[in-house]
Amino acid sequence: MIEEVTGASERSIGPDTIAEMRTIMARYPQPRSALLPMLHLVQAEFGYVTPAGIEACAAELGITTAEVAAVATFYTMYKRRPIGDYHVGVCTNTLCAIMGGDAIFAALQEHLGIGNDETTADGLVTLEHIECNAACDYAPVLMVNWEFFDDQTVQSARDLVDRLRAGDPPDPTRGAGPVCTWRETARVLAGFPDGRAHEGPSAGPASLVGLRRARERGDEAPDDGRRTSGQHAQNGGSS
Ligand code: FES
Repeated sequence: MIEEVTGASERSIGPDTIAEMRTIMARYPQPRSALLPMLHLVQAEFGYVTPAGIEACAAELGITTAEVAAVATFYTMYKRRPIGDYHVGVCTNTLCAIMGGDAIFAALQEHLGIGNDETTADGLVTLEHIECNAACDYAPVLMVNWEFFDDQTVQSARDLVDRLRAGDPPDPTRGAGPVCTWRETARVLAGFPDGRAHEGPSAGPASLVGLRRARERGDEAPDDGRRTSGQHAQNGGSS
């Protein structure tokens, strides 16, 4: 069982959440395939993966709590202690680090008065250094509840967390704005859309340079015989 670090009183999982877990399970041929979104649903209710949430997942899926805990402790998107309304992830992987990510992370620790994986006393911001988010073309990047804030500086990062703490969450660089809370995000990740999936900017110009150049040159992926005729036609190839 996962240790509850905060000592916060343990709540049992609610009947509505159990019903939604069963809704998720019904989406898969093998119910245990639903474990990942079920864990996000636990985070949507509690803010993190609690012992009660693990026990509920295990009971519904007919597997052991050890099996559930093994998954919940493997993936870094699942948290084992309460997270603030806004999880601020600073990429400190190689490219972001040398482009300013290390300086941003140090500045935010000083500005917020917290260390890595800690939450401000008002319960609003949790700071964590994170690994590459596949947005290196916009380094250095921050993520707020997994939404991208591209091309950041020390000052823009300070301004960002100040707005979060002031109740004025900004729009991410890509995706719907303003950023929603940690629990709201977890609910979307669990498979209950908020209807905003198609709002806001999508991929930016830097990410599309290769695609644009390929189209200009008339490049096509080689047909190695594995693509179906439907995929081929969809991609504009001749059969
Ligand atoms: S190194 Fe930061 S997104 Fe890749």
